[in-house]
Amino acid sequence: MPAASPPPLRCPLCGNRLSAAGASGTAARPALACSAGHSFDAAKQGYFNLLVGKGTVFEADSADMVAARFSFLDAGHYRPLADAVAAAVTERVRPGEPFTVLDSGTGTGHYLRAVLDAVSRVTGEYTAVALDISKFALRRAARLNPEAVSLAFDVWQPLPLTDGSVDLVTVIFAPRNAAEFARVLRPDGRLLVVTPRAGHLASMAVRSGMLAIEEGKDTRLTESLAGHFEPESTQDIEIRLRLTPAEMADLAFMGPAGHHLDRAALATELEALGTTPAVEAHFRLTVFRPMRPA
Ligand SMILES: C[S@@+](CC[C@H](N)C(=O)[O-])C[C@H]1O[C@@H](n2cnc3c(N)ncnc32)[C@H](O)[C@@H]1O
Ligand SMILES: [Zn+2]
Repeated sequence: MPAASPPPLRCPLCGNRLSAAGASGTAARPALACSAGHSFDAAKQGYFNLLVGKGTVFEADSADMVAARFSFLDAGHYRPLADAVAAAVTERVRPGEPFTVLDSGTGTGHYLRAVLDAVSRVTGEYTAVALDISKFALRRAARLNPEAVSLAFDVWQPLPLTDGSVDLVTVIFAPRNAAEFARVLRPDGRLLVVTPRAGHLASMAVRSGMLAIEEGKDTRLTESLAGHFEPESTQDIEIRLRLTPAEMADLAFMGPAGHHLDRAALATELEALGTTPAVEAHFRLTVFRPMRPA
């Protein structure tokens, strides 16, 4: 189902409103353009590159890491988490009313797909914007969520969205720019954050070179949003995973450890263990309310 109203985008160069400009030049590809003449063509995979100037120095997820994440999530192992996110979002949607969602750090777009499927059952009037800095991830996200506007963008830059225009920002295992999320949200909007909890995948972390999740992450999450957001509700989600060695290798490889792991060597090592350990995923879903300026 196509998104209903135009996405509330602003030009990353001049701040004017950005809108769909149809195909530019001879290429039959859509573009986003502002009244000052700045124009951004869609990549052939369907996302728009709004990255301008000097961005954050970071180590982008490789195409192989993105492929591992896509394959692991597509197999449905984290379905209970996707369902919980979708349910928390749809609580805020009213039948027939417009609803705008921003998925920041969308990755392969897996969770946004679940959200949009659920939202579209309540209202046809929804608009979705997805952003990520990884073009490998966006290629998949744009294909999976054709009704969303998928943007290559750095979340640490002023976001290309207009003030007070978004009903809900979702951030699932991705970086959080509290000040910018607060700016783009409506006063009655919400920020939904998913983080791993202490003990997440602990039984396989040791064997696979993954980083363990430390205690105290929750306090740090609230602290990192302080001054802009206060927690409203919290839900813990536990998933018992039954994984083959190849799936465990994907799971290890799709996270931050993927930057320094050799997936093939890891898969062989896990295969050689003969037995696969019981693995539990521990997540926390927190909904934050924007704080009113004093
Ligand atoms: C662990 S992945 C999670 C992806 C997705 N939300 C999911 O759960 O499947 C973190 C994502 O954040 C993105 N990311 C990291 N730094 C970013 C930045 N500065 N701006 C935008 N996205 C960023 C990465 O490219 C990656 O896709
Ligand atoms: Zn402009």
